[in-house]
Amino acid sequence: MTFTEPSDLPTEDSPDDPAVFESDIDINASQRSEPTPATPEQIHAAQAVGALIRADKLVAGYFPGVNILNEADLYAHEGELVGIIGPNGAGKSTLLKALFGLVHINSGSVTLREEDITNLRADQLVRRGVGFVPQNNNVFPSLTIEENMQMGAYQDPKSFSMRFDEVVSLFPTLGERRKQRAGSLSGGERQMVAMGRALMMNPSVLLLDEPSAGLSPALQDEVFVRVREINATGVTVIIVEQNARRCLQIVDRGYVLDQGKNAYTGTGQSLANDPKVIELYLGTLAKV
Ligand SMILES: Nc1ncnc2c1ncn2[C@@H]1O[C@H](COP(=O)(O)OP(=O)(O)O)[C@@H](O)[C@H]1O
Ligand SMILES: [Mg+2]
Repeated sequence: MTFTEPSDLPTEDSPDDPAVFESDIDINASQRSEPTPATPEQIHAAQAVGALIRADKLVAGYFPGVNILNEADLYAHEGELVGIIGPNGAGKSTLLKALFGLVHINSGSVTLREEDITNLRADQLVRRGVGFVPQNNNVFPSLTIEENMQMGAYQDPKSFSMRFDEVVSLFPTLGERRKQRAGSLSGGERQMVAMGRALMMNPSVLLLDEPSAGLSPALQDEVFVRVREINATGVTVIIVEQNARRCLQIVDRGYVLDQGKNAYTGTGQSLANDPKVIELYLGTLAKV
């Protein structure tokens, strides 16, 4: 996806074209308006067309009258890897939870393949192909790896062996240790269990909330590699990350969320190189 800059918009037609020239003579030049630069909202509206999942002007919060999301926009096209970064408390987790029916949306809409899924329950969203890995408490520690995977497939138990084989092809450790309790695993292994569990329903879009949080740099790297592998199998991924630089390196497109709304958006590379984004959001955050 390319980010539409105002410079990509149609400019003045070539005066060498006589037809254009003739039609131009009738126009009072003083009434011609300069092309106005596209606003973030206009860019969203233009680029989100046909997206697999999109959120428009989401307003949501935990208590009546206290909104955490203030008209946040987001979209992901099929097969895209999309990142969300931003300061602590910006509403990143709230945004993912709102997409997954865990925080009430007061206004705005979420659509999946152009079907309105605003405020559907999480189980209904799972059935429609949305997977979610929360930031905390994302495994059942007293259950084995295999039982965690069964929980992931509870809506479609018949698919268990086939899906488990697929998940194990991505995360071989989960197969080797299938009888081990999730609570006895390292933090990195637990993240694999959490992602594996969400993949058991063969989601078309996977929402990941800070999968690298609390891990050593080496394990963080492994998580990012795994996320790319999951994406390479065709799963659209929306990932929230505290490791902002690393996140922008791996994503196709990113959003900087601040105070519940989009502050910046663009390709991962363009955001990582944007002086304002660097100054405001990357300066003191994790180095690579
Ligand atoms: N369960 C909750 N109940 C009430 N307020 C919450 C809850 N979770 C988060 N908040 C508030 O919502 C705001 C955004 O939080 P969050 O979405 O977790 O931010 P981020 O993930 O960007 O750090 C914060 O002010 C936080 O205190
Ligand atoms: Mg969070």
